[in-house]
Formats: sequence, structure tokens, C-alpha cells
Amino acid sequence: MSWFKKNRQNDFPTYKFERGAGRPYHFLDSAASALTPKIVLEAMDLYYRTYRANVHRGLYRASAKATASYEAARENIANFLHAAPEEVVFTRGATESLNLVAYSLAATLQPEDEVVISIMEHHANFVPWQQFAQRFGFKLRIIPITKNFELDKEEARKIIGPKTKILSLVHVSNVLGTVNPVKELSALAHQYGATVIVDAAQSVGHRPVDFAELGCDFLAFSGHKTYGPTGIGALIGRYSALSQLSPFLYGGEMIAEVTKEYSVWNEVPHKFEAGTPNIAGAIGLSAAVDYMQEIGLDELAKHERELTAYAIAQLSTIEDVTIIGPGADQDRGGAVSFSVENIHPHDLAHILGNHGVCVRGGHHCAMPLMQELDLPGTTRASFGIYSQPKDIDALVKAVKYVRNKFGS
Ligand code: ALA
Repeated sequence: MSWFKKNRQNDFPTYKFERGAGRPYHFLDSAASALTPKIVLEAMDLYYRTYRANVHRGLYRASAKATASYEAARENIANFLHAAPEEVVFTRGATESLNLVAYSLAATLQPEDEVVISIMEHHANFVPWQQFAQRFGFKLRIIPITKNFELDKEEARKIIGPKTKILSLVHVSNVLGTVNPVKELSALAHQYGATVIVDAAQSVGHRPVDFAELGCDFLAFSGHKTYGPTGIGALIGRYSALSQLSPFLYGGEMIAEVTKEYSVWNEVPHKFEAGTPNIAGAIGLSAAVDYMQEIGLDELAKHERELTAYAIAQLSTIEDVTIIGPGADQDRGGAVSFSVENIHPHDLAHILGNHGVCVRGGHHCAMPLMQELDLPGTTRASFGIYSQPKDIDALVKAVKYVRNKFGS
């Protein structure tokens, strides 16, 4: 475990704060929101202190610098994901990115059309399609999972067909950690002329993600899960696909011309960025990209893979604990869900929290999956570049304590 000698917790001020307060602190909730490194806080602080102004509007020094930094952030994020700068639309996060595409595309569908998603979707990629199916009358098809918590590819091949107009699939499940074959299914859906959307909220920042290589039309991710600030994220879209989308929000800066009778939209990506954007957020997210690239995405992925294997191995030694997700021998993400017999995940997560072990307990915004698994929820540990084996040891110790005190 030589790489564990590199402890990056000092890059993240939250650790100093928690330890300074004399509290045990084992943060294992990165799938909900990752911690923020100093470099991100400093980049945002610099903007607010020294060139605080709006973008694309002012002609004075601070505004020119804000515009340059905002657009440089777009370029940095584009390079990071192997897209072109004009293919990056800043949004509030993956949820807004997915809604943007769904709002624009759903209205173009006919009752005979089908939209395909999976049972492991986060609500952000489930509810919009469910609601629009009800409103516009198209059919929603749902790919099931196998008993090994993998996407049922055989069923997927039966479901995706000539009626498929949209395939919208999660890359890495926030509950199971399952990695879906998005490249393969994207190619299949494209054979039928469908549009492919990937929810990459749990893959960007955890493994190398190459938008061009995945072959999808749209990809959504959030800054707050990738060491960036909250309230910022992006929709990455192929230029031609973005050009065909209608705007989602109307207002300033998304227009080229407005008369009393009509409006002409601004160019892509600006036609999707109505109003004053989250300038500090974009600058912070770009700094987070720098941070991840300095470490290296392969290194980030390796760190998480080793920790995941360690967590699954250690948790599996506890009586009455069941891992809800693929084994560590699979290519999987770092969300490790588990259940403890006769203990509700909310109770477990609450008591773990009292031990300074920060995990999420519940349905993880994936209630249809819980319904399918017939579980009230799971307890989930998830990792970031700052996570250490000692955090997992603390988790295991606390789970044993709860199981022995309250379990069967
Ligand atoms: N989607 C985030 C999670 O899985 C909030 O916890």
C-alpha cells in the first residue's frame, strides 16, 4: 500500500477545522459532495477580492479579466474532458444539465417514440423522463439489472431499437458503484439514430472520462463532486447536438437580437447561459480540474480502486453485513453500499455520524432502484483522493459496534 504514504488531507482545510475542534473526522461521503481543496478556495477568493465584475458585459479591466477567466475555465474543462470549448455549457450541476436536455428534447417526441433509461438512475435522470412521458405521451423503457448488480445488457439490447429516440444512462451508479457500458450502448443506440445522454456525475473526477471516446451526444457532471464548489457543473454536448437544442432559460446574454416581435439566440454555448452565470463557481471548478490533473486521473482512479477493494474486504468480514453492489474484482466505482441485518440505514448512518464517520444512509435519490431491490435504503461509504485506510478502519469499527449493540 505504498501510495497511501501520500496523504493529501492537508490540501483540504476541512480536516484542519474538524481536528482543531477535537473531533474524530472520517469523511466517507464524497459521492454526495467531495471536499474542496485550498487551491479552489484561493482561486475563488482571488476573483471576489481583485477582479469582481460581471462577464461578457463590462469594458473595464476587472470585467475583461473576469470574462477571460470565465472563458479560460470553459477551455480548461473542455480539455479535461476532451471536448471543444464551445461544447461546454455551464449549469448549476448535473441535475440542471440533465433537465436542460430533457426539457428541450422531450417536447419533440411523438407518442410512438421511446426513451430508454435504467433502473439504477438517480432521480435527476429518472423523474424528468417519467414526467415528460406522462405529459407528451411517449413511452419510457427501463433497463433492469442482473442479480450481480450489473446492467442487464441482454435486456438492453432487446429494449434499444428502432423506436428508441433517446438513451439516457448513468455512467457509474451512485448507489451500487456499477460502471455501465455506455460506449457500447451509445454505439448501439446511434445505429437507430437515437440521441445519447450520459449522467457522469459519479465518474468525472474519479476516473479518466473522455467525452469524444464515449461517443455520446451529451454528458452531465457536477462541480461539487469533483473537488469544485457547489452550484456549478456543466453539460458537455456535441456542437451539432447543442445547436439543435432549444434554449432552456430565456434572458440576458442568451440572445443575439431581441425586437418587439422576435428574438434570435446567441451562439452555442451562450444560448444556454441566460443571466449572470456562476462566475466564481466556474473559476473554482477550473482550479479543481488543475488540482485533479496535477495528481493525475489514473492516480485518482487507482487510489479509489484500492480503497474500494479494502472497504469491501473489511466490511465483508462483519457478520450480518451484505454488500449491495458488484465485487471488488469488477471494474466499479467507489460508492460502497451495504446493509446490516435488522438495522435501518438511517439509524446506522446516524450512529456512525456520532462516531465521526460521515456516510450517507437512505435511498440516495434512487428510489426506483430501492423498490427493485426491495430495500428501504442502504448505508453508503464513498471515497475521494483524501480518503485513507484508517477512515475505513474507523467505519468498520463503528459498524461492528452498532451491529453488536442493536443488531440481530
Ligand atoms: N447524488 C448525490 C448522492 O448520491 C447527492 O449522494
